[in-house]
Amino acid sequence: MPISAMPGVVQHTLDSLVAEAERCVAAGVGGLMVFGVPVEKDPRGSGADDPDGILNVALRRLRDAVGDDLVLVADLCLDEFTSHGHCGVLAPDGSVDNDATLVRYAEMGLAQAEAGAHVLGLSGMMDGQVGFVREALDEEGLIDTVLLAYAAKYTSGLYGPFREAVGSSLVGDRATYQQDPPNATEAVREIELDLAEGADIVMVKPAGPNLDIVAAAADLSPVPVAAYQISGEYAQIEAAAANGWIDRDRVMAESLIGIKRAGAQIIATYYALEMARHLR
Ligand code: PBG
Repeated sequence: MPISAMPGVVQHTLDSLVAEAERCVAAGVGGLMVFGVPVEKDPRGSGADDPDGILNVALRRLRDAVGDDLVLVADLCLDEFTSHGHCGVLAPDGSVDNDATLVRYAEMGLAQAEAGAHVLGLSGMMDGQVGFVREALDEEGLIDTVLLAYAAKYTSGLYGPFREAVGSSLVGDRATYQQDPPNATEAVREIELDLAEGADIVMVKPAGPNLDIVAAAADLSPVPVAAYQISGEYAQIEAAAANGWIDRDRVMAESLIGIKRAGAQIIATYYALEMARHLR
């Protein structure tokens, strides 16, 4: 199904997802981040760790189809699965309950690793999530699963199109668990904390507005640094290009070159397939 605020990006069925993954392999894309759009949601996000939940079914199908030719990154967050749209479970007062959410993340992470995810993308921004999920995986002997920490995730107006993409039920924002844009030291501290908890990759997002943080992360991190060019960054380029105001292909490339130059070793972008084909 098309996503109106992200022309060219679609919600996939299981079959079309596998076909897309095969195109990615052929084009030399390194990895694929997979998000689930469940039909049924509830307050605890039950579909997230159900082996028959859409994301876990999709991971299994993908792993069967492409094996290790594409690094499969599972989004490890409850927001797509909860009826209230928050990244975690809620306390009686309506706030997000950090520690109860960690338990759900561990259950979700185990289900994803068992379904075939190579990497778990911890995007929920709960305190202690990397260490908690790492321990749960270790206990089950799942020692090869890579943890990608969304270490510095700024609250941003640029997430809007993604909410449409995953049919989010969220009202309001995630300001209580995402970073405050004027604050750089907090982002650096978050990166250091995730490294101390055993993150294998640290990520900064949104990429474009936070290239200084990408550069700072590249400076201090002993593990690879990733940057995520998010939905609104994509939508801005597409909207201006559709009006004939900018040269789409040039701006696409420039936006990604800037992220690379800042020091990102891994770039998550909705342009991945197109850019990989350009580069060939
Ligand atoms: C959390 C998650 C989000 C994105 C990636 N993982 C949503 C959010 O933080 O609000 C955003 C990606 C984008 O805007 O492209 N499941």
